[in-house]
Amino acid sequence: MPAGSSERRIDKLIELLAKNATVVVPGPKIASQIGVSRNTIFLWVNKLREHGVEIKGHIGTGYQLVRMPDILVPSLIQAELGENEIGRNIVHHFSADSTNTIALDLAQRGAEHGTVVVAEEQTAGRGRLGRTWYSEKSSGIYVSVILRPPLSPAAAPILTLMAGVSAQHALSAVTGLGVDIRWPNDLLVNGKKVAGILTEMSAELGRLHAVVLGIGINVNHLEMPAGLKPTATSLRIESQRSWSRLPILVALLKEMEKFYHLLLEKGNGAIIQGWAAASTYAQGKPIRIVTGEGEARATTLGLDPSGALRVRYDDSREEALVAGEIAEVK
Ligand code: BTN
Repeated sequence: MPAGSSERRIDKLIELLAKNATVVVPGPKIASQIGVSRNTIFLWVNKLREHGVEIKGHIGTGYQLVRMPDILVPSLIQAELGENEIGRNIVHHFSADSTNTIALDLAQRGAEHGTVVVAEEQTAGRGRLGRTWYSEKSSGIYVSVILRPPLSPAAAPILTLMAGVSAQHALSAVTGLGVDIRWPNDLLVNGKKVAGILTEMSAELGRLHAVVLGIGINVNHLEMPAGLKPTATSLRIESQRSWSRLPILVALLKEMEKFYHLLLEKGNGAIIQGWAAASTYAQGKPIRIVTGEGEARATTLGLDPSGALRVRYDDSREEALVAGEIAEVK
């Protein structure tokens, strides 16, 4: 078991209690079915209670599940994923420093293509450009997907766009909200950021070993911290209702599977097209380009075949941006 990950058999405990929700299941029976001691069951029940799972009873009488909050339990996710390769192996953490850090480590140790790392909270969530990612417990989706594509490291940026289109499709399909993508891959609702993607890879000498696509989605945050409020939001804030995270994550993993195969079968063009259809930033958008040296104004001219954003500056110069940050000119 990877250090710190939820013991896979906690998953079994939840499953067992959920299947027998109408009865009290004796502690020794649970312990023997799962293959751990009664004391371990006692510790796990307490851990689940800390995460909002309501379980009646104690070690002497047995346990009964009363209320199951929205925990991203691997078996529940997998039950919805069917043939998906992405998510066949899911590592769940109640608390993690960063799911991307864990996924990179797992990838280095040979984790298979499609392995997913998910956490209820992150204590050191990482964002793009060295920023931190606010990862409030149980309110958001913090997930990293390990891919082993037959591509060169230079081709990796297209995977970031692929993840962006997948997230855009998943979020708009599940919530019905208007979701935009700001290049390269910030997901916006009503002009504010609801989700971000951090792509990292392990590669050497022109060979791509693995790519980790880390996706953070602000789902049920009631309020964003003061410093983020002007630019960030959550699905709940924008729709004035809460969302179960599980169907959103399932939709995301299914869309990723679909677009990943589209990329391998049809090439970059299919992703670029999908991205352009999903983003108001693709073409003719007045933007500010923010760099270390300052800001410049430009208009977007579409994506080039590698996924770089072509822009025309106000002084008529044209360029293809490969990385960086842009903002809408209002
Ligand atoms: C961004 O800056 O827009 C990218 C944010 C990416 C956040 C996600 S949350 C899951 C994964 N683990 C991390 O530490 N970061 C990514």
